[in-house]
Amino acid sequence: MKRTQIKDVFTGANYGDEITVCGWIKTRRDSKGGFSFLELNDGSCFKNLQIVAEAKLQNYESEIVKLFPGASIAATGIVVKSPGKEQDRELNASSIKVFGFCEPLEYPLGKQKISFERLRELAHMRARTNTFGALARIRNTLAFETHKFFQNNDFYYVNTPIITGSDCEGAGEMFQVTTLNLDKIPRDEKGAIDYSLDFFGKKTSLTVSGQLDGETWACALGKIYTFGPTFRAENSNTRRHLAEFWMIEPEIAFADIDDDAQLAEDYLRHLFKAVLANCPEDLDFFNKFVDKTLKDRLAKLADSPFKRISYTEAVSILEQSGVNFEFKPFWGMDMQSEHERYLSEQKFDCPVIVTDFPVGIKAFYMRLNDDNKTVAAMDVLIPQVGEIIGGSQREERLDVIERRIRESGLEPADYWWYCDLRKYGTVPHAGFGLGFERIVQFCTGMHNIRDVIPFPRTPGNAEF
Ligand code: 4AD
Ligand code: MG
Repeated sequence: MKRTQIKDVFTGANYGDEITVCGWIKTRRDSKGGFSFLELNDGSCFKNLQIVAEAKLQNYESEIVKLFPGASIAATGIVVKSPGKEQDRELNASSIKVFGFCEPLEYPLGKQKISFERLRELAHMRARTNTFGALARIRNTLAFETHKFFQNNDFYYVNTPIITGSDCEGAGEMFQVTTLNLDKIPRDEKGAIDYSLDFFGKKTSLTVSGQLDGETWACALGKIYTFGPTFRAENSNTRRHLAEFWMIEPEIAFADIDDDAQLAEDYLRHLFKAVLANCPEDLDFFNKFVDKTLKDRLAKLADSPFKRISYTEAVSILEQSGVNFEFKPFWGMDMQSEHERYLSEQKFDCPVIVTDFPVGIKAFYMRLNDDNKTVAAMDVLIPQVGEIIGGSQREERLDVIERRIRESGLEPADYWWYCDLRKYGTVPHAGFGLGFERIVQFCTGMHNIRDVIPFPRTPGNAEF
């Protein structure tokens, strides 16, 4: 079947063209004059195409008047100028083929407004709503523009493994992967689980980050990025945590923390500009119904430089803010969401890059600064979302990395290949990870991270 996508009807078709469009009915209105208006959406764009179906169509009485929201059809006809004020064109149907009827009393997405909470229970259907259609198109744009940005800047796309034997963040928040029979777990003479009998002959998990593998390829190819799923078994039920999320991780050789911060800034600004340029209709929708400040915010951030401060400065700003934080700030604390938002919203009203965190709260691979108290880490904080990026310059000195691995309660022997990188032609290098769902949240104004990924995985939820 040769079909025209509805977005092309609005941009490419001429009055008088004969075309076929396919999609799902949003509404049907019957007019007294003996014809019906069908609002059709095919997902290609936000707008619906109005189909005029006259009573003289051979299946008008038998089928067309039985079309309700959700039904799927193909409509063939002529593009004509629309007399309505809502649209400049409509389709005058010469034939309508019904693929599937939709029972109005049972269909969960009727005309009534449905809460985002309820739609999560209908995640197999929610892509058909205005909100999730717009969301999916913006998410797609952000993914495509991510590849474009890195490709245009000469980064190579590298795929790192999803099943791994190492804990990148050293935080122990990993989902184990095993084929051992859980009813009959093999044990050694000391009673410990005998992983030599497991599928990979060792204990394995789903990756929390592709960084360690990414570093090895950056230290050969120069500039790489990954874009893949990552998994965290942290029991956080917040509006910005998922157990399965997508992360973009660039890694650059011969680079320090300042180069890293510059890359983060350039990449984020590219994304803001791209969404503004490529998704005007979908953004209009979010701006009208979800967050009235969205477009202004994106436009402002696309053009303004980010603020850079050290962790030590950030803490003293928080201490002197006079704000009664739930979690009282002090040097050495891990920054909480309320602190991140205060800095990027109230204090600076722009994205803030915080650098040089206390060694005690950051991962083993971050480069130890000369003060021996802080590491060359950075967090990028943005309004509404808080931490969007976490990154660092990597520890490139063999003796220091081995010591830091030990101090973090890990075994250098388990990271032998990671240490080899420091042994054989080590170079200064740096990188970061951007949480893809968090940038989708920011670019749509959606409050809850569960509503910016098709099928969210959170503690207690793995339906669909
Ligand atoms: O700060 P994180 O933990 O950094 C890393 O994983 C580094 N290995 C990245 C690197 O340097 N290559 O995570 C990076 C980003 C966070 O800033 C946040 O945006 C997102 O990933 N993130 C999550 N997003 C959704 N749900 C979660 N549970 C997330 N945990 C982190
Ligand atoms: Mg982080």
